[in-house]
Amino acid sequence: MSIAIRQVGPCFAGEVDGLDMRQPLSHEDAAAIHAGMDRYAVLVFRDQTIDDAQQLAFTQALGPIEQAIGTSLCAAQDYRLPTTFADVSNLDKTNTPFARDDRRRLFAIGNRLWHSDSSFKATPAKYSLLHAISIPTKGGNTQFADMRAAYDALDEETKAEVQDMVCEHSQMFSRQLIGFFDFTDEERERFRPVRQCMVRTHPVTGRKSLYLSSHAGGIVGWPMPEARGYLRDLIEHATQREFVYTHKWRLGDLVMWDNRQTMHRARPFPAEQPRDMRRTTLAGDGPTVAQAA
Ligand code: OGA
Ligand code: MN
Repeated sequence: MSIAIRQVGPCFAGEVDGLDMRQPLSHEDAAAIHAGMDRYAVLVFRDQTIDDAQQLAFTQALGPIEQAIGTSLCAAQDYRLPTTFADVSNLDKTNTPFARDDRRRLFAIGNRLWHSDSSFKATPAKYSLLHAISIPTKGGNTQFADMRAAYDALDEETKAEVQDMVCEHSQMFSRQLIGFFDFTDEERERFRPVRQCMVRTHPVTGRKSLYLSSHAGGIVGWPMPEARGYLRDLIEHATQREFVYTHKWRLGDLVMWDNRQTMHRARPFPAEQPRDMRRTTLAGDGPTVAQAA
């Protein structure tokens, strides 16, 4: 049986029926998922009672994956999950929620700002796949914004202005926005900025989108305060209600999004409650600019 997709967001985002991730992915369903991603940019799969190996196998059936090494403040020996997963939970190795002032928790609060995954890497991510293992009793929604619709809604003058714009992205920029500044020298080196173009064109549909992210903290050739103000205004424009889908998590949900065409953010939830979310990530094709680093 082939899958069916029903739109659930304002201008994008679809819910998928007829797929069981415990079964091997057929070529037909893989093609339908890619086509669905090209169109909806976010796909929701309900009731997926899968383990990590099944999530990984499903992800790898869609393309080569990105490793999650060196992108958090967690030392390698403290990883709760294999490096094929980004640990988006609030849990330590013993599955205990981090203390409220734990540095790893505070760094992860950066996920509550609008962003695109791995925009701080020279080759940024293609799709992210986030699976809910445990969820808090309140809060903790994830919101998505359609960067194609946001681009389409710009006036012609702004479209021309952003067309060849190049930004500098770093996890240090997004953390500065939430008042997190205490990086070690090793972290400063590891998180040094990379360049990304502001306007991306989808390789299949040809649609243009704004490649925005709270990791963007500078525009090449612009004075810093002016760049920061401009980026802030663009994010404000791009995340208006008419471009946003809010996902309310149920256990077993797996949500897949295209980082090239959307931004997302986590919403707050009670610090003492476990929220176990595990992300696999498909690698992007390459840098978005010729001189990325
Ligand atoms: C992510 C992310 C948001 C959330 O997995 O990349 O930003 O709601 N998640 O946990
Ligand atoms: Mn993210």
